[in-house]
Amino acid sequence: MGGDAPSPRHVAVIMDGNGRWATARRLPRTAGHRQGLEAARRLVEAALRRGIPILTLYAFSTENWERPREEVDVLLDLFAEVLEREQDRFDEERLRLRFLGDPSRLPDRLAHTMRLVERRTARHSRMTLQIAVNYGGRTDLLQAVRRLAAKVQAGELAPEAIGEREIEAHLFTHGLPDPDLLIRTGNEQRLSNFLLWNLAYTELYFTETLWPDFSLEEFERALAAFEARERRYGRVRVPGSPTAP
Ligand code: IPE
Ligand code: IPE
Ligand code: MG
Repeated sequence: MGGDAPSPRHVAVIMDGNGRWATARRLPRTAGHRQGLEAARRLVEAALRRGIPILTLYAFSTENWERPREEVDVLLDLFAEVLEREQDRFDEERLRLRFLGDPSRLPDRLAHTMRLVERRTARHSRMTLQIAVNYGGRTDLLQAVRRLAAKVQAGELAPEAIGEREIEAHLFTHGLPDPDLLIRTGNEQRLSNFLLWNLAYTELYFTETLWPDFSLEEFERALAAFEARERRYGRVRVPGSPTAP
Protein backbone atom coordinates (compact mmCIF):
# COMPACT_ATOMS: atom_id res chain seq x y z
CA MET A 1 0.00 0.00 0.00
CA GLY A 2 1.01 3.59 0.22
CA GLY A 3 1.04 4.35 -3.48
CA ASP A 4 -0.07 7.86 -4.14
CA ALA A 5 1.14 8.67 -7.62
CA PRO A 6 -1.47 10.47 -9.70
CA SER A 7 -2.12 9.44 -13.31
CA PRO A 8 1.03 9.71 -15.38
CA ARG A 9 1.51 12.88 -17.40
CA HIS A 10 3.93 11.18 -19.74
CA VAL A 11 3.85 7.51 -20.74
CA ALA A 12 6.63 6.01 -22.86
CA VAL A 13 6.32 2.62 -24.54
CA ILE A 14 8.85 0.17 -25.97
CA MET A 15 6.57 -1.69 -28.36
CA ASP A 16 8.35 -5.04 -28.54
CA GLY A 17 7.35 -8.51 -29.71
CA ASN A 18 5.94 -8.00 -33.21
CA GLY A 19 8.28 -10.54 -34.79
CA ARG A 20 7.59 -13.25 -32.23
CA TRP A 21 3.86 -12.63 -32.52
CA ALA A 22 4.07 -13.29 -36.26
CA THR A 23 6.46 -16.24 -36.03
CA ALA A 24 4.13 -17.97 -33.56
CA ARG A 25 1.45 -17.77 -36.27
CA ARG A 26 3.80 -18.90 -39.04
CA LEU A 27 3.50 -15.48 -40.60
CA PRO A 28 6.34 -13.30 -41.87
CA ARG A 29 7.70 -10.88 -39.24
CA THR A 30 6.34 -7.98 -41.26
CA ALA A 31 2.79 -9.21 -40.58
CA GLY A 32 3.60 -8.66 -36.92
CA HIS A 33 4.63 -5.10 -37.66
CA ARG A 34 1.28 -4.46 -39.37
CA GLN A 35 -0.57 -5.75 -36.31
CA GLY A 36 1.79 -3.77 -34.13
CA LEU A 37 0.75 -0.55 -35.83
CA GLU A 38 -2.89 -1.43 -35.11
CA ALA A 39 -1.99 -1.87 -31.44
CA ALA A 40 -0.27 1.53 -31.49
CA ARG A 41 -3.39 3.12 -32.98
CA ARG A 42 -5.53 1.58 -30.22
CA LEU A 43 -3.16 2.83 -27.56
CA VAL A 44 -3.20 6.39 -28.90
CA GLU A 45 -7.01 6.36 -28.73
CA ALA A 46 -6.97 4.99 -25.21
CA ALA A 47 -4.43 7.59 -24.08
CA LEU A 48 -6.58 10.33 -25.60
CA ARG A 49 -9.65 9.07 -23.77
CA ARG A 50 -7.64 8.82 -20.56
CA GLY A 51 -6.46 12.40 -20.99
CA ILE A 52 -2.77 11.50 -20.90
CA PRO A 53 -0.98 14.61 -22.15
CA ILE A 54 2.19 12.99 -23.54
CA LEU A 55 2.73 9.60 -25.14
CA THR A 56 6.11 8.54 -26.53
CA LEU A 57 6.41 5.43 -28.68
CA TYR A 58 9.65 3.67 -29.63
CA ALA A 59 9.11 2.65 -33.25
CA PHE A 60 12.60 2.13 -34.69
CA SER A 61 15.97 2.21 -32.96
CA THR A 62 19.39 3.16 -34.32
CA GLU A 63 20.26 -0.54 -33.92
CA ASN A 64 17.25 -1.76 -35.90
CA TRP A 65 19.15 -0.96 -39.14
CA GLU A 66 21.04 -4.21 -38.50
CA ARG A 67 17.93 -6.24 -39.34
CA PRO A 68 17.42 -7.82 -42.76
CA ARG A 69 17.05 -5.14 -45.41
CA GLU A 70 13.64 -6.43 -46.45
CA GLU A 71 12.23 -6.11 -42.91
CA VAL A 72 13.64 -2.59 -42.51
CA ASP A 73 12.21 -1.48 -45.87
CA VAL A 74 8.75 -2.86 -45.16
CA LEU A 75 8.72 -1.32 -41.69
CA LEU A 76 9.72 2.15 -42.87
CA ASP A 77 7.22 1.97 -45.75
CA LEU A 78 4.51 1.03 -43.27
CA PHE A 79 5.34 4.06 -41.11
CA ALA A 80 5.03 6.38 -44.10
CA GLU A 81 1.74 4.76 -45.14
CA VAL A 82 0.19 5.02 -41.69
CA LEU A 83 1.30 8.63 -41.23
CA GLU A 84 -0.12 9.62 -44.59
CA ARG A 85 -3.37 7.85 -43.83
CA GLU A 86 -3.80 9.08 -40.26
CA GLN A 87 -2.72 12.70 -40.59
CA ASP A 88 -6.26 14.06 -40.98
CA ARG A 89 -7.26 12.22 -37.84
CA PHE A 90 -4.31 13.61 -35.89
CA ASP A 91 -5.46 17.03 -36.92
CA GLU A 92 -9.13 16.39 -36.06
CA GLU A 93 -8.22 14.92 -32.68
CA ARG A 94 -5.92 17.90 -31.98
CA LEU A 95 -2.84 15.75 -31.56
CA ARG A 96 0.60 17.28 -31.80
CA LEU A 97 3.06 14.92 -33.48
CA ARG A 98 6.75 15.09 -32.77
CA PHE A 99 9.43 12.76 -34.08
CA LEU A 100 12.51 11.89 -32.06
CA GLY A 101 15.67 10.76 -33.78
CA ASP A 102 17.86 11.52 -36.75
CA PRO A 103 15.74 11.76 -39.90
CA SER A 104 18.73 12.03 -42.29
CA ARG A 105 19.06 8.29 -42.91
CA LEU A 106 15.32 7.72 -43.43
CA PRO A 107 13.77 7.27 -46.89
CA ASP A 108 12.75 10.61 -48.45
CA ARG A 109 9.06 9.78 -48.50
CA LEU A 110 8.99 9.02 -44.79
CA ALA A 111 11.17 11.99 -43.78
CA HIS A 112 9.02 14.28 -45.90
CA THR A 113 5.76 13.00 -44.37
CA MET A 114 7.19 13.35 -40.87
CA ARG A 115 8.10 16.98 -41.49
CA LEU A 116 4.70 17.67 -43.00
CA VAL A 117 2.74 16.06 -40.17
CA GLU A 118 4.86 17.81 -37.56
CA ARG A 119 4.23 21.17 -39.16
CA ARG A 120 0.54 20.49 -39.70
CA THR A 121 -0.12 19.53 -36.07
CA ALA A 122 2.33 21.90 -34.37
CA ARG A 123 -0.38 24.15 -32.92
CA HIS A 124 -2.31 21.35 -31.20
CA SER A 125 -2.12 20.81 -27.48
CA ARG A 126 -4.63 18.14 -26.49
CA MET A 127 -1.95 15.48 -26.51
CA THR A 128 1.65 15.31 -27.69
CA LEU A 129 2.46 12.07 -29.47
CA GLN A 130 6.20 11.56 -29.80
CA ILE A 131 7.35 8.82 -32.12
CA ALA A 132 10.97 7.71 -31.94
CA VAL A 133 12.19 6.73 -35.41
CA ASN A 134 15.89 6.10 -35.96
CA TYR A 135 16.22 7.06 -32.31
CA GLY A 136 18.94 6.01 -29.90
CA GLY A 137 19.47 7.38 -26.41
CA ARG A 138 23.22 7.53 -26.96
CA THR A 139 22.85 9.28 -30.31
CA ASP A 140 20.57 11.79 -28.63
CA LEU A 141 23.16 12.56 -25.95
CA LEU A 142 25.94 12.64 -28.55
CA GLN A 143 24.25 15.20 -30.75
CA ALA A 144 23.43 17.32 -27.69
CA VAL A 145 27.07 17.22 -26.53
CA ARG A 146 28.30 18.17 -30.01
CA ARG A 147 26.00 21.17 -30.22
CA LEU A 148 26.94 22.30 -26.73
CA ALA A 149 30.65 21.92 -27.56
CA ALA A 150 30.17 24.02 -30.70
CA LYS A 151 28.58 26.78 -28.60
CA VAL A 152 31.49 26.65 -26.16
CA GLN A 153 33.97 26.80 -29.02
CA ALA A 154 32.16 29.78 -30.52
CA GLY A 155 32.40 31.55 -27.17
CA GLU A 156 28.60 31.60 -26.72
CA LEU A 157 28.56 29.34 -23.68
CA ALA A 158 30.91 28.88 -20.72
CA PRO A 159 31.59 25.25 -19.69
CA GLU A 160 30.53 26.11 -16.12
CA ALA A 161 27.18 27.27 -17.47
CA ILE A 162 26.36 23.74 -18.70
CA GLY A 163 23.92 22.20 -16.27
CA GLU A 164 21.17 19.61 -16.57
CA ARG A 165 18.89 22.24 -18.03
CA GLU A 166 21.27 22.99 -20.92
CA ILE A 167 21.65 19.29 -21.72
CA GLU A 168 17.89 18.77 -21.60
CA ALA A 169 17.38 21.76 -23.88
CA HIS A 170 19.55 20.15 -26.59
CA LEU A 171 17.95 16.68 -26.57
CA PHE A 172 15.41 15.58 -29.18
CA THR A 173 12.87 15.57 -26.33
CA HIS A 174 13.58 19.17 -25.26
CA GLY A 175 10.84 21.07 -23.51
CA LEU A 176 8.80 18.09 -22.29
CA PRO A 177 8.82 16.49 -18.84
CA ASP A 178 10.46 13.08 -18.39
CA PRO A 179 8.27 9.98 -18.70
CA ASP A 180 6.50 9.04 -15.48
CA LEU A 181 5.85 5.51 -16.67
CA LEU A 182 7.71 3.29 -19.13
CA ILE A 183 5.91 0.22 -20.44
CA ARG A 184 7.85 -2.48 -22.26
CA THR A 185 6.00 -5.40 -23.83
CA GLY A 186 7.49 -8.57 -25.29
CA ASN A 187 8.94 -10.15 -22.17
CA GLU A 188 12.33 -8.37 -22.19
CA GLN A 189 13.55 -6.31 -19.27
CA ARG A 190 15.95 -3.82 -20.78
CA LEU A 191 15.93 -0.29 -22.18
CA SER A 192 17.45 -1.06 -25.61
CA ASN A 193 18.92 2.45 -25.87
CA PHE A 194 15.63 4.27 -25.27
CA LEU A 195 15.54 7.74 -23.60
CA LEU A 196 18.66 7.12 -21.50
CA TRP A 197 18.75 10.63 -20.04
CA ASN A 198 15.00 10.96 -19.53
CA LEU A 199 14.29 7.67 -17.75
CA ALA A 200 16.39 8.49 -14.67
CA TYR A 201 13.40 8.38 -12.29
CA THR A 202 10.74 6.77 -14.46
CA GLU A 203 8.64 3.91 -13.09
CA LEU A 204 9.18 0.76 -15.17
CA TYR A 205 6.47 -1.72 -16.11
CA PHE A 206 7.30 -4.92 -17.97
CA THR A 207 4.82 -7.37 -19.44
CA GLU A 208 5.16 -10.67 -21.28
CA THR A 209 2.39 -9.69 -23.69
CA LEU A 210 3.66 -9.34 -27.25
CA TRP A 211 3.02 -5.86 -28.64
CA PRO A 212 0.30 -6.76 -31.19
CA ASP A 213 -1.72 -8.30 -28.33
CA PHE A 214 -1.38 -5.26 -26.06
CA SER A 215 -4.96 -4.46 -25.07
CA LEU A 216 -6.77 -1.64 -23.34
CA GLU A 217 -7.14 -3.87 -20.28
CA GLU A 218 -3.40 -4.34 -20.20
CA PHE A 219 -2.90 -0.57 -20.51
CA GLU A 220 -5.28 -0.02 -17.59
CA ARG A 221 -3.31 -2.58 -15.57
CA ALA A 222 -0.08 -0.71 -16.26
CA LEU A 223 -1.67 2.59 -15.22
CA ALA A 224 -3.08 1.01 -12.05
CA ALA A 225 0.36 -0.44 -11.23
CA PHE A 226 1.86 3.02 -11.70
CA GLU A 227 -0.72 4.62 -9.45
CA ALA A 228 0.15 2.14 -6.70
CA ARG A 229 3.85 3.03 -6.81
CA GLU A 230 5.47 5.32 -4.29
CA ARG A 231 7.90 7.69 -5.97
CA ARG A 232 10.64 8.84 -3.65
CA TYR A 233 13.30 10.42 -5.88
CA GLY A 234 16.01 9.41 -3.46
CA ARG A 235 14.32 10.94 -0.45
CA VAL A 236 12.85 9.47 2.67
CA ARG A 237 9.10 9.24 2.60
CA VAL A 238 7.39 11.32 5.27
CA PRO A 239 3.84 10.00 5.84
CA GLY A 240 1.21 12.37 4.51
CA SER A 241 3.62 14.57 2.56
CA PRO A 242 3.61 14.79 -1.21
CA THR A 243 6.39 12.84 -2.94
CA ALA A 244 6.66 14.63 -6.25
CA PRO A 245 9.52 17.13 -6.46
C1 IPE B 1 9.23 -4.48 -32.06
O1 IPE B 1 9.04 -5.82 -32.37
C2 IPE B 1 9.22 -3.60 -33.29
C3 IPE B 1 10.54 -3.07 -33.67
C4 IPE B 1 11.64 -3.22 -32.98
C5 IPE B 1 10.62 -2.34 -34.89
P1 IPE B 1 10.24 -6.74 -32.82
O2 IPE B 1 10.34 -6.68 -34.31
O3 IPE B 1 11.47 -6.41 -32.10
O4 IPE B 1 9.71 -8.17 -32.39
P2 IPE B 1 10.53 -9.33 -31.70
O5 IPE B 1 11.16 -8.75 -30.49
O6 IPE B 1 11.56 -9.79 -32.70
O7 IPE B 1 9.51 -10.36 -31.40
C1 IPE C 1 13.51 -2.08 -29.05
O1 IPE C 1 13.19 -3.36 -29.47
C2 IPE C 1 13.28 -1.11 -30.16
C3 IPE C 1 11.89 -0.87 -30.52
C4 IPE C 1 10.84 -1.36 -29.91
C5 IPE C 1 11.69 0.04 -31.62
P1 IPE C 1 14.29 -4.36 -30.04
O2 IPE C 1 13.59 -5.62 -30.38
O3 IPE C 1 15.05 -3.71 -31.14
O4 IPE C 1 15.26 -4.53 -28.79
P2 IPE C 1 16.28 -5.70 -28.44
O5 IPE C 1 17.09 -5.98 -29.66
O6 IPE C 1 15.47 -6.88 -28.06
O7 IPE C 1 17.06 -5.17 -27.30
MG1 MG D 1 12.27 -7.04 -30.35
